Parts: sequence; structure tokens; C-alpha cells
Amino acid sequence: MSLCSWSELVERGSLRVSRCGQVLLIVRDGAFARAYLDQCPHNLASLDGGEGGQDFLTPERDALICRGHGALFRLRDGYCFAGPCAGRSLIPFAVERHGQIVDIALGQGNMLR
Ligand code: FES
Repeated sequence: MSLCSWSELVERGSLRVSRCGQVLLIVRDGAFARAYLDQCPHNLASLDGGEGGQDFLTPERDALICRGHGALFRLRDGYCFAGPCAGRSLIPFAVERHGQIVDIALGQGNMLR
């Protein structure tokens, strides 16, 4: 199941997409793409803090940030290393990159059906 094109991530760094009733954040982490459920472990709301948009990266582009109360998450595994939910993690989804296409990796424990 296609999530986005690699070039979209190269240009923007992060995207939010809806698939099968779930909202996912797709981020570029070097040569890799990562996907997480758009649900902050602090209060189970979107990381956009109610403002919408597609940019969920810090100005340094080295972590995800929740616009709600500023929690910071590692790109590689979604672990929260600062903020009100420090020590908890975003829910990850396995993704695969096939050339210019980023796909959800079905059959690897992902919740999407
Ligand atoms: S809702 Fe994400 S830090 Fe509070």
C-alpha cells in the first residue's frame, strides 16, 4: 500500500497521510522513511496541536515535535526523549522503500488492514 513518493519526503521531510482510517506521519530519516501513528502519547491527540499542516520536524530536522506541548521524538524509533511524555513512544509502522515509492509493509505487525 503506497504512502507517498520519496521525493515528497526529500522536499518536505515529513508528511501526514490517511490510510484505512488511520492517520500516519511519514518522516525522512537519512536514507530511510519511517512511519508513526499520528497520536502523541501525552494526550492521544495529533502531533499538530490542532493547527493542521504537514511539518512535524524540529527546525534542525533531527526530531519529530508535537505542537501540543513540545514533546520531542527520535526519528529512528519514535522514542520521546523530552517533554511531558518522555520515556514513551509513538506507535511505529513498518515501511518499505521501493525506488521512489514508500509503501506500508503489510504483514509485519502493522495495524492497517
Ligand atoms: S499532546 Fe503532545 S506533548 Fe502534549
